[in-house]
Amino acid sequence: MKASDFPNNFLWGVATAAYQIEGAIAEDGRGQSIWDTFCQEPGRVEDGDTGEVACDHYHRWEGDLDLIQSLGVRSYRFSVAWPRVFPEGTGALNKRGLDFYDRLVDGLLERELEPSVTLYHWDLPQMLQDRGGWGNRDTAETFADYADTVTQRLGDRVGSYATFNEPWCVSILSHAIGEHAPGSHDMGLALQVAHNLYVAHGLALPRMRANAPNAQHGIVLNLTPSDAASSTPDDREAAKRFDGFFNRWFLDPLFKGSYPDDMWAGYGSQVPEVQEGDFELIAQPLDFLGVNYYQRAVVAHEAGDWPNFKSVTFDAERTSMGWEVYPEGLTNLLVSLKERYTLPPLYITENGAAYVDHLEDGCVHDGARLSFYERHFEALLEAINQGVDVRGYYAWSLMDNFEWAKGYSQRFGLIYVDYQTQERTLKDSGRWFHKFISGT
Ligand code: FCB
Repeated sequence: MKASDFPNNFLWGVATAAYQIEGAIAEDGRGQSIWDTFCQEPGRVEDGDTGEVACDHYHRWEGDLDLIQSLGVRSYRFSVAWPRVFPEGTGALNKRGLDFYDRLVDGLLERELEPSVTLYHWDLPQMLQDRGGWGNRDTAETFADYADTVTQRLGDRVGSYATFNEPWCVSILSHAIGEHAPGSHDMGLALQVAHNLYVAHGLALPRMRANAPNAQHGIVLNLTPSDAASSTPDDREAAKRFDGFFNRWFLDPLFKGSYPDDMWAGYGSQVPEVQEGDFELIAQPLDFLGVNYYQRAVVAHEAGDWPNFKSVTFDAERTSMGWEVYPEGLTNLLVSLKERYTLPPLYITENGAAYVDHLEDGCVHDGARLSFYERHFEALLEAINQGVDVRGYYAWSLMDNFEWAKGYSQRFGLIYVDYQTQERTLKDSGRWFHKFISGT
């Protein structure tokens, strides 16, 4: 396998998100985000870690852009921190906050890197959370105003804009499972959050298009293909429910203009309030769908109340997150997406792995990560050869960073970060990635 086996102009890139790398949480007028709050709550984040400093990217961004350039990639996916732009979520614009992203975009263009901007990668302004956050439908309008402001300023200098990163995480993981900010445990609320998020997406899109008519506009979903733990009808049905819970609930509104019937029936009184016209808003055509793939789920039937499934664990090759390394899942996912939906072009907007890395004599020998990437590229190429229209691939992540509830315990970078000195060191995987994509 060589990079030249991939389609012409295939866009290789690396990805990050604002809260995970920027630090500088109280600088240049930035307001508080729900992640600042969450990190202060005891027991929420491993070792009490916070994003206060993270990779100090807010100050070191120029050096970081040089590193991105040295990797030989063509694009950089990053997110804009809403609380830098509108410290209170709405109302007064903080010009200094928006200026940062303006400089970042110019800095990328100077280095011939295509900016790919995610407008929401989880750092909701705390003042909006105080008014109900994503559970409050008004937040959708507020998001559209924010998206309008950012796209007006950054405009067509940006190659692609995504409204949201991983609606499943924003809704279910954060509001039903309680693992991410704001940390609630309420499935009904989570489903309303997911719906309001999609309304926000629909309200923002036309305004984004008007401001940046030459950019591509889309959304990023995390998708987890599910395999039944056995071939019994019970386990197969359970795997189908998992797929509904994780994937179809988020894909169907965008590409079919409805929620899946089986899941709607199962959720019963927990279903969200849907207003007339919502699905027309939500199912507007997209220029691309971003797919984040990390692992599959192996699912079995479980006694008890609907949706009565459980994810089973078994002996397998795993990353330090405990996630199974399963490259075939990427092929299967992409091929099944193509079979099930009429889709715009796809980008793999995240894929990568955390391992325990050791910095020794200026080197990080992360053979496991290198092999993870190599096998996932092969799996991706297989899907492309089977006719799936994938236009690009972004490695998660450019550098080690604040891994949400896992704090700094999980390293996903192609570049190692020493959090004491902020020194960056290219790992073996990063070296390999560079060699691979540049065909040398
Ligand atoms: C995804 C997130 C990203 C990163 C990776 C490991 O769910 O989008 O920010 O944390 O997982």
